Amino acid sequence: MGAAHDHPGFADPHYVRRRNHLADQARHHRVGDPSPHVDYTETEHRTWRTVHRALLQAHQGRICRTVEEARDQAPIPADHIPQHTEVGEELTALTGFSFTLAGGIVPNQRFLGSMADGHFHAVQYVRHPTMPLYTPEPDVIHDVLGHGTHLTSPLFADLYRTVGRAARRVHSDDALDLISRIYWHTLEYGLAHESGTTKAYGAALLSSYGELLRMHQAHIRPWNLHEIATRPYQVSGYQPVLYTMRSLDHLTQTLHDLLDDFDEDTRPRMGLPPLAERGLTGRPAPSTH
Ligand SMILES: [Fe+2]
Repeated sequence: MGAAHDHPGFADPHYVRRRNHLADQARHHRVGDPSPHVDYTETEHRTWRTVHRALLQAHQGRICRTVEEARDQAPIPADHIPQHTEVGEELTALTGFSFTLAGGIVPNQRFLGSMADGHFHAVQYVRHPTMPLYTPEPDVIHDVLGHGTHLTSPLFADLYRTVGRAARRVHSDDALDLISRIYWHTLEYGLAHESGTTKAYGAALLSSYGELLRMHQAHIRPWNLHEIATRPYQVSGYQPVLYTMRSLDHLTQTLHDLLDDFDEDTRPRMGLPPLAERGLTGRPAPSTH
């Protein structure tokens, strides 16, 4: 993912109309209501197939075993874009999760908080067909393939709920920003050591061919909450810094340690400066749609 102002998606009025039409459906959507059915075009299905095939290849040797197993079990077809409800019903049976409709950026409190109840906000629009392996914004491929893979796994579903419960407990921008950063650098862009090498587990990596192929060119650093809390978000382009856990057990332990008792005082209690002091502002989780 990443911003590209000359991306064909922004310059193609037919594409923009279609994208905005699908985004507008979310305008009055209530969390938990089923997403509307979308009649995807053959071009859109073809984009899905191209990306699905490329990702399977890119995953080889680059993603954590637990994630690979979840992907192989996930109710996500290779040959067509599934409906949210089609995948959601099976996720509900596996982990209690389902998709709820988003049309773009969703405020942190709603996006993160809904995870406590097993609702994951997902969009329905698809990236531009002329650049199937690159998207300037999260699309249905990122949401359904990336997050849907996670939400097939009880281990990851528990972590999403853990994030959600923490977000439900707080209201300030400072507190929500910290939860959002923790989410971003783990469940979206996290790496973990496995069998002597560093592998991807984050959903943004799993669903991005380009990020996966170049992840070892990023600065790979051990998990460091202070850095994560104070570094400005890099929303566009490839991530320059990725954080790695010692293992997925370390990830689970770290998120539960940080988030189970997370409250408004967690940030100052851990010696982390408030947003304003860093010249930063609270912003929606960049992966949030
Ligand atoms: Fe995401």
